[in-house]
Amino acid sequence: MTGTRQISLGDVDLWWAHPEQIDDPDLLETYRQWLNPAEHERMGRFLFARHRQTYLVAHALVRWVLSQYAEVSPAAWTFVKNQYGRPDIDPAHELGSLQFNLTHTNDLAVVAVARSDVGVDAEDVSRRSSTIKVAEHFFAPEEVAQLHGLDHEAMTSRFFDFWTLKEAYIKARGMGLALPLHAFHYDLRDLSAIAIGFHPPIEDRGENWRMDLFSPNPRHRVAVAQRLAPSISMNVHGFLVTPPGEPSAVYHHPCPPKNMQKHVF
Ligand SMILES: CC(C)(COP(=O)(O)OP(=O)(O)OC[C@H]1O[C@@H](n2cnc3c(N)ncnc32)[C@H](O)[C@@H]1OP(=O)(O)O)[C@@H](O)C(=O)NCCC(=O)NCCS
Repeated sequence: MTGTRQISLGDVDLWWAHPEQIDDPDLLETYRQWLNPAEHERMGRFLFARHRQTYLVAHALVRWVLSQYAEVSPAAWTFVKNQYGRPDIDPAHELGSLQFNLTHTNDLAVVAVARSDVGVDAEDVSRRSSTIKVAEHFFAPEEVAQLHGLDHEAMTSRFFDFWTLKEAYIKARGMGLALPLHAFHYDLRDLSAIAIGFHPPIEDRGENWRMDLFSPNPRHRVAVAQRLAPSISMNVHGFLVTPPGEPSAVYHHPCPPKNMQKHVF
């Protein structure tokens, strides 16, 4: 199927792999051959083999996934970085609006592909932290208020919803932590119509963003944010894959245009 997959404005394809479950030495050698010298250098800086393997699989996944959309072999992709470190497809490939974003955490790597600004974040929710203290430090007051009053389990779960969604937005903007986390806030009272609002210094409009949140397995939570005109539907498709094997389609979530959702900031 290399090079033949189509993607339209509004679609978000999410491809994920489980780095720690890949132990075939030939496969791992193939991945090594796809990476460029700079990627090898970054991979070599990780102290633990587990982290080197996650890096290897995540970056091989990016390359293989992009090769599903264009006649470019996994090893031939080149990338550029913006001033905040966001990697994008090198304009030399002449692929127009095609974009990707990568996230990796314990035993999960996810690549999002879309035709408008897109950000993805995955977190290991089995990792416990003192959620309310972290939230009070990093989140907007509107978000902290939505956590208060929840029991421990519900609070932990909602904390990761906020965390992954906040990361997805700052990654879609390509600015990472250069955007102040307290200057935008999610309303998660209705997960079928996730809404986002902004305070200065962030100048943005909630109606131009569409989000999705799901669990590909009990250990991980994944959020995606896409910049999209309110009139356009977002269609999220999820695939589990061990490149270059056959992917299995495991998730599909059509999200209607904004004006058909219940509430918008
Ligand atoms: C760098 C950052 C963009 C994401 O970091 P992260 O959540 O630790 O890591 P993720 O696995 O989700 O994403 C890493 C990938 O995002 C991409 N990336 C790097 N800079 C990026 C940017 N400015 N915008 C979008 N994507 C970026 C890269 O592909 C990177 O992978 P690589 O380093 O292997 O090449 C940034 O948001 C950050 O430093 N976050 C720290 C976590 C934190 O404190 N979050 C508070 C949450 S409320």
